[in-house]
Amino acid sequence: MNVKLRKPLIAGNWKMYKTAREAAELVAALIERGAEKHGAEVVIAPPFTLIAPVLAAMGGSRIGLAAQNCHFEKQGAFTGEVSAEQVREAGCTYCIVGHSERRQLFGETSEIVGKKAKALLSEAVHPIVCVGETLAERESGSTLKVVIAQLDAALVSFGASDIAKVVVAYEPVWAIGTGRTASPKDAQDVHAVIRARLLQMFPTTADTVRVLYGGSVKPDNAKALLAERDIDGALVGGASLDAGSFISIIEATG
Ligand code: 13P
Repeated sequence: MNVKLRKPLIAGNWKMYKTAREAAELVAALIERGAEKHGAEVVIAPPFTLIAPVLAAMGGSRIGLAAQNCHFEKQGAFTGEVSAEQVREAGCTYCIVGHSERRQLFGETSEIVGKKAKALLSEAVHPIVCVGETLAERESGSTLKVVIAQLDAALVSFGASDIAKVVVAYEPVWAIGTGRTASPKDAQDVHAVIRARLLQMFPTTADTVRVLYGGSVKPDNAKALLAERDIDGALVGGASLDAGSFISIIEATG
């Protein structure tokens, strides 16, 4: 049996979906169906404007809240942006940074991702740092090089105590929203390299860092992915928008 060293984390990234009413209904369904009653830690990442309605719908639930992004500056004239402090104040204990959609559509570099993660740590919010290669990069054999370069650049200014608070998400870009998933073995191979790199950088504390897999995680492939030794959870997009499929993925952790 594969005994997990780290408590599995299942995070639902809602992206730019749901109205306030739909969000409240989804949260109510997740609670009713026992989302937090399994061995996994469960987190949902609604759009900024839905954080308050989601929090209200959560009541005393143990489901955690994440933001999908933040700015690295503490405050200032940055129209449309939200700071790490504002994310924390809104009730989020996690925040996704460096999602490939942010990197590809909004020009985020790994350096910016690192600054955002640092800003979050200063507010005691756990960053979920995303890395992942494009299809062209995979096909040219540079997956590991790309992923490690993203990781190194994002974590360059981190200390050993910082890293213990970070979550890493490996999301191959070609698997996001496409229905194409990395095979459990391919995902595990990349996760093992990420784990080895983290341990090399932070030998004393990297052991506790969870490395999630993301990219078309669905009820029918979750169990095999989560059974892999170095896959400590999932960052789920489309399947987190439906209570039944998200619960099935949570159940797949154990
Ligand atoms: P899908 O699960 O829809 O492929 O999205 C993955 C993702 O981007 C999660 O952050």
